[in-house]
Amino acid sequence: MTTKTQALLDWIDARFPLTKMWKEHLSEYYAPKNFNFWYFFGSLALLVLVMQIVTGIFLTMHYKPDENLAFASVEYIMRDVPWGWLIRYLHSTGASAFFIVVYLHMYRGLIYGSYKKPRELIWIFGVLIYVALMAEAFMGYLLPWGQMSYWGAQVIVNLFSAVPFVGEDLAIWLRGDYVVSDATLNRFFAFHVIAVPLVLLLLVVAHIIALHEVGSNNPDGIEIKARKDADGKPLDGIPFHPYYTVKDIVGVVVFLIFFAAVVFFAPELGGWFLEHDNFVPADPLKTPEHIKPLWYFTPFYAILRAVPPMFDSQFPGVLAMGLAIVVLFFLPWLDRSPVKSIRYRGPLFKGALAIFIISFVALGWLGTQPATPVLTNLARVFSVLYFAFFIFMPWFTKADKTKPVPERVTFK
Ligand code: HEM
Repeated sequence: MTTKTQALLDWIDARFPLTKMWKEHLSEYYAPKNFNFWYFFGSLALLVLVMQIVTGIFLTMHYKPDENLAFASVEYIMRDVPWGWLIRYLHSTGASAFFIVVYLHMYRGLIYGSYKKPRELIWIFGVLIYVALMAEAFMGYLLPWGQMSYWGAQVIVNLFSAVPFVGEDLAIWLRGDYVVSDATLNRFFAFHVIAVPLVLLLLVVAHIIALHEVGSNNPDGIEIKARKDADGKPLDGIPFHPYYTVKDIVGVVVFLIFFAAVVFFAPELGGWFLEHDNFVPADPLKTPEHIKPLWYFTPFYAILRAVPPMFDSQFPGVLAMGLAIVVLFFLPWLDRSPVKSIRYRGPLFKGALAIFIISFVALGWLGTQPATPVLTNLARVFSVLYFAFFIFMPWFTKADKTKPVPERVTFK
């Protein structure tokens, strides 16, 4: 470093802990040396978050949150705004990519027991991020004001009216009207562009502060802080920068190849990322034949439809759907296993996890299908299996036959 840059840095450091933060979170943050590809998804989620914010800012410059102008303003972005099509496809593909990355990131947490002590708060902040992300995606989907935007919002907001006693008032309060309307569009826009992103950013900061307080878990589920050298550095740790900053670039490149392939060659992905019905302007007088949410919500939508109404009320289904998400918060306390990583767990956990993943994916598919009697019964079976994973977890994690965990991380 030249003396001038050093002098500038010293000047800043005397006023703001720049070097201190750089060291604490990057060059002297010791991460386990045995990270595998599952550890790419946290940094990829950060990348997608930044991309959504940047593309979102540009979309907002041309988008109009008005029931008479919204649909046409999106078409204007697609056809007339220079590079508008690219910005819009980056944002719409980014929404699905966000959920793909976050689902894989959560799955990594499951297989390596990353939610277990002392990382409970990292997990809880994670689940809160997941809830915020769902709110963000749901409200963003109303903005293009297509048929599916409109009717999807109508169905989901109507669910709140199933809440006993206060339901009807609650739904009107949320919509700002008796049906989804201009008032709803305006408030969803406000939440989508500023309120929820702000909450998301704060939660991500809290998530990473909690992570850096206790240190990362790893595929062996061993606490690297337990074994340190004479200088107090973990024997199995390596500085995050440059080792993982460089490694993460590999993940970013691979991700961007897949991402660009979708953006440039199949931005609708056959209706999975952008639904056909959403290219038709919203019409409050014409209900589409099959109303369904985008793929990332369908497992919960399937659970909602699987639970039969009671006394003509949809409330039990709404409750089940809510519980399916709330139960995630309790995972750190439901898992009683003495080991963290799947590598040292026994057949009970592995079997239960396999059934859980199959059920979640099956529910996801069922949520995209019309609710025929056969499919509804199937959804009931998979919903029961989904909840059974959590309900029986204290038992099967305790009864499982675990393998001895090595002293040091395994690394080839
Ligand atoms: C915007 C979304 C998210 C971002 C940007 C994010 C970011 C990160 C980053 C950068 C890491 C460290 C790198 C890594 O371990 O991959 C991490 C770790 C972690 N995240 Fe997230 N995360 C997000 C969502 C979630 C969600 C939804 C959950 C769970 C419900 C979650 C649970 C965890 C856990 C348990 C760890 C520690 C993993 C370990 O040490 O093995 N995260 N996250």
